[in-house]
This record gives sequence, C-alpha cells and structure tokens, in this order.
Amino acid sequence: MSFLTEKAESWAESGGLVSVNDISLGGLRLLFETAVKMRKLVQEKGGDRRLEGRVLATVFFEASTRTSTSFQAAMCRLGGSFVHVDGGVGGASSASKKGESLSDTIRCMECYSDVTVLRHPIRGSIASVLPSCTKPLVNAGDGVGEHPTQALLDLFTIVDELSIPITPSINNNNDKTDIDNPLVIVMLGDLKHGRTVHSLAKLIARVGPQICGKEIHLRYCSPTSLPMPEDVQTYVNQFGAVKQETFQDLTQAIQNASVLYVTRLQKERFDNSEDYERLKGAYVVDQQLLNNNENNEMIVMHPLPRVDEIHTNVDNDPRAAYFRQMENGMYVRMAILALLLNKP
Ligand code: NCD
Repeated sequence: MSFLTEKAESWAESGGLVSVNDISLGGLRLLFETAVKMRKLVQEKGGDRRLEGRVLATVFFEASTRTSTSFQAAMCRLGGSFVHVDGGVGGASSASKKGESLSDTIRCMECYSDVTVLRHPIRGSIASVLPSCTKPLVNAGDGVGEHPTQALLDLFTIVDELSIPITPSINNNNDKTDIDNPLVIVMLGDLKHGRTVHSLAKLIARVGPQICGKEIHLRYCSPTSLPMPEDVQTYVNQFGAVKQETFQDLTQAIQNASVLYVTRLQKERFDNSEDYERLKGAYVVDQQLLNNNENNEMIVMHPLPRVDEIHTNVDNDPRAAYFRQMENGMYVRMAILALLLNKP
C-alpha cells in the first residue's frame, strides 16, 4: 500500500485513507479542486452516474450520523450504491459479536463492495487491518485516534470560507508563507479525546501554511485536564510555519483569530462521569462572545454533534459555518470516492 503522493493517479493506487499522514500537498490540492467540481455538479444537476455499478460498504462500530450518511449520499449522488453494517457499540449487532476478527469482517465486505469506510472505537484498529485489505479502506474515526476525512472537509471549509485560492498562481504564490500576518485558528473544548482536532492539527501542520500562504498559529483552548495530546503537538512541531499555543481563557484565545473550531466534551470517552459533569458547560460560544471579539469576521466551526457548547442564538449568524461545513462534507467525500475509484 503506497501513500498519496503528488500525482493524481496515486489516489486510486493508495490503498485508501487511514491517516492524515498519507496526505501530500499535491494530493490535497487535487482533492479540493475535485470537491469544488462536485459542489457545482450537485448544485447544477444533483449528481451524475460515474460510479454506476460500484458499491460502498459503510461499517460502523461506533455511533455516527453525519459521517456515515454523507458518505452514503456521496455515493448515491455519483450513481453508485451502498451497503451498511451497524456494528453497534462494541459490535453488538454484527458478526464480531460471534468472535469474528475485524480484518475478517472487512475481507468479507470486500467480496460485496469496491471501497470500505470503517469506524471503530479502538485507536489504531483501522491501520491494523490495512495490510489484509484488497480494496481501498477509509478511516471514519478510530476511537480517540484520527478522523482524516473530517480534517479534510474542515480544512476545505476554512479555505472556502476565508476565500483562499486552492491553486497557487503567479500573483498568489501560496508556497511562500507570509509570516507577518499569521492565520490564527483556535481549537476549543475536549482536545484530549477529540479525534477531529487531532487530525486537523496534523493536517494543518503538513500542508496548512502552503495552502493558506501564511504562517499558522494554532491556539489550543481547553480545560487543563483535556489538553491537546503530547504526541499530536510533537507531530505538529516537526513542520515549520506552525506555532502552537495553549490557553484556558476563551476570550483571550480568540483575540484576532480567524477561525474558532469548537468541539463537544466526549462524554463517552471519560473515565468517570463526575469529571464530565464537573467540566461540561466550561465553554459556551454565544452571540455576545462573537460580537465582543476584535476580529468581527471570525468564523465558527464544529464537527457536530453539538451539545451545549454553541448557543443556538449563533446559528443564524453568517459567521456560523458549521452547517455549511457539514454540506462540504458530502462534496469532499464525493471527491474522495471518485478519486479512490479512479473516476475523478
Ligand atoms: C465527530 C466524531 O465522530 O469524531 N463527529 C463527526 O464525525 N462529525 C465529533 C464528535 O463525535 O464529537
């Protein structure tokens, strides 16, 4: 299994998408350009038939609403179809209950389908089945590990909302980063358990400054017991032009920020419920917070589901980007499926 490289064909030959570590700048630009075309396609014609006869298997051993259905909708809009395995919590309703290994489950699904999208509660489990896969495998979340397709749609949304050109031109050479005017992105909430912020921080470190043409400041704002994990911070540190800072105070963290990426406390991943009860409600993003911020244009993102960390009075504010972010998820996943199945 090779990794995604600068070449277009590499998506089809890559073996899938298990970690953001697989993503290169060339592969990302191609994906974003394809996602823009998918959005136009859906808006103008609803979709096309390029994946007719192809079948997607969505295999979910953890709860999902958006990730599973956006992949399924993406497949339908390109003329393909899907089969779904609801593994339930701990595989309650699939053959894993009978003792089947995860790699056997995926090998079997590959007999019926052309690409598998897999979510599992154990970190590293998806990478562990990759060696026995015969068809592309996509990680839809492995416990507290990664969620690479969410990071891709998140970065696509940042670029889209801030009107950053995807392809560098002579007038806009994004390969040269502007260090005097950094792009400030705040990640808020449960940074310890949130796999979306793990993948997004890593993806931004890999390609963010080149894509955005700016130095990037990542500000991690969380309760002290829920920090961005050391291994993610060490990974980010390997790359130039990304600075990391830690905050507890949200008002300070969002000063001059362009993006506020909010996450919920991951109740199901806490060791004890008292800690969750103590920390819930620690941060609430509301209209007042946005209006008092120096950068009046800061957008608000969230991978959803939201619990109470964004007040509903923000929903109709033009800066609330989270529903547009969800919609982008389908376009980005259409692009992922088309590229992996070699029909971009
Ligand atoms: C996220 C996930 O499952 O990690 N949701 C999603 O995929 N959109 C975030 C979460 O569950 O909080």
